[in-house]
Amino acid sequence: MTRPSRLELKALGPARDRDAPIYLQLYNQLREAIAGGHLGPGDRIPSVRSLASELGLARGTVEAAIQLLVSEGYLVARGAAGTIVSPRLAVVSTVAPVIPELPHVLAPLSPPASERGVAPFQLGIPALDAFPRKTWARLSGRHQRTVTTSAMVYPDPAGHEPLRRAIATYLGISRGISCSHEQVFVTTGYRGALDLVRRTLFSPGDTGWFEDPGYLLARIFLERAGLSLQPVAVDDEGLRVADGKTSAPQARFAVVTPTHQSPLGVALSLPRRLELLDWAAARKAWIIEDDYDSEFRYNGRPLPALKSLDRDDRVLYAGTFSKVLVPGLRLAYLVVPVSLIGTFRDEVEHSPGPGPVAPQAVVADFMSQGHFARHLRRMRPLYATRRQYLVEALVDRLDDRLFVQPQAGGLHVLAHLKARRNDRPIASAARANGMDVQALSDWRLTPSVEGGLLMGFANFGSADEARDAVGTFELAWRSA
Ligand SMILES: Cc1ncc(COP(=O)(O)O)c(C=O)c1O
Repeated sequence: MTRPSRLELKALGPARDRDAPIYLQLYNQLREAIAGGHLGPGDRIPSVRSLASELGLARGTVEAAIQLLVSEGYLVARGAAGTIVSPRLAVVSTVAPVIPELPHVLAPLSPPASERGVAPFQLGIPALDAFPRKTWARLSGRHQRTVTTSAMVYPDPAGHEPLRRAIATYLGISRGISCSHEQVFVTTGYRGALDLVRRTLFSPGDTGWFEDPGYLLARIFLERAGLSLQPVAVDDEGLRVADGKTSAPQARFAVVTPTHQSPLGVALSLPRRLELLDWAAARKAWIIEDDYDSEFRYNGRPLPALKSLDRDDRVLYAGTFSKVLVPGLRLAYLVVPVSLIGTFRDEVEHSPGPGPVAPQAVVADFMSQGHFARHLRRMRPLYATRRQYLVEALVDRLDDRLFVQPQAGGLHVLAHLKARRNDRPIASAARANGMDVQALSDWRLTPSVEGGLLMGFANFGSADEARDAVGTFELAWRSA
């Protein structure tokens, strides 16, 4: 049984200038000494009197700290025999635990947690510098000041009703979708919407068509949920519906990005849209339409949603606020066919719902007071300009190696490799140098010799910024 050395006892003396009461400071330091292994199970604690005199504290202060530790089980008081560290505490190792390596299949999908700013080329992040912070702060402040009853009781698990109404109105005006707020379910991001659909309509092992290449995160999410994804190739008219009908005619669902295919950027042609809807109607399959960034189309008007053609009510439409506002909100929504309102309602009644009311209420105000439409009007020309910055920088610097595919919209460019070579080492080298370039191969289900790079442009504030980033990227590529 060892006693703490004189030196360690000195180190336990509380610093009087900190904010917490002295007894709590002493309590914390003794507890840390135990947790850090400086005091082991069975070690005797000096008497209250000697600790008090050694540390220059009142006896009552030391007693209060010791009593707290006794009440929490760290120490055991044995009367005249003194106070010891509880022998029942497992010996705490001072050696840092070894964290096993995480399985590493793909390059990490998020930037390091320490720096969740925006890395150059990072996909999927809207222009954060153009976010209307003042308006947002004003609307949020109002909700925080006036704590309404609806913000205090259990919220509707389908989402805050004013937001659901605002979404239904917006979809009617902007996306050609006629729906009531009862069809709208607010979710935690797009994957929250996928999760809701999966729980409500599918069972593990069910098969669905998935665009190849297609949205990487949705694919991983659905596969992890136990669904079986049948890759269906995409060409310049979008999903090759006939291929899906041949390879998996019995599929229960199809996940598609008809307005702006992710990641190729093409639109699903009208004949293919009709073919897909016919297939779903004939097979009683469900179509999940992911309409993630249709608002950002730079030539002409945004295309109407597939859902606007859905006469047989087979389309579940998913939208998100991640691009039109910011992904930090974690708000998306699902519009379900009228025939499924009850089934989905029943499912959400037994689920945690989309989270707190306050952010939903702020988005609802933002939409209903006209800020949303204004914000979108401002963002379209801004993104068109920023895309141009990146395209010009790529053409200037890497024209011999890359072909930038023209795209009608979106927040990223797809640059095809002119030579047949593996795109993964290039993307890895960029990531190793702090740039968030993604390899097209990682978004494919079926390997292809045609490589490409996905590069976001929304946060390039000037042509110089884009040029500098492309210059750094080129150096990284050379090292690959
Ligand atoms: C194809 C696609 N769908 C949906 C989303 C939206 O996802 P979330 O709502 O989880 O941010 C994204 C975001 O990058 C996307 O790229």
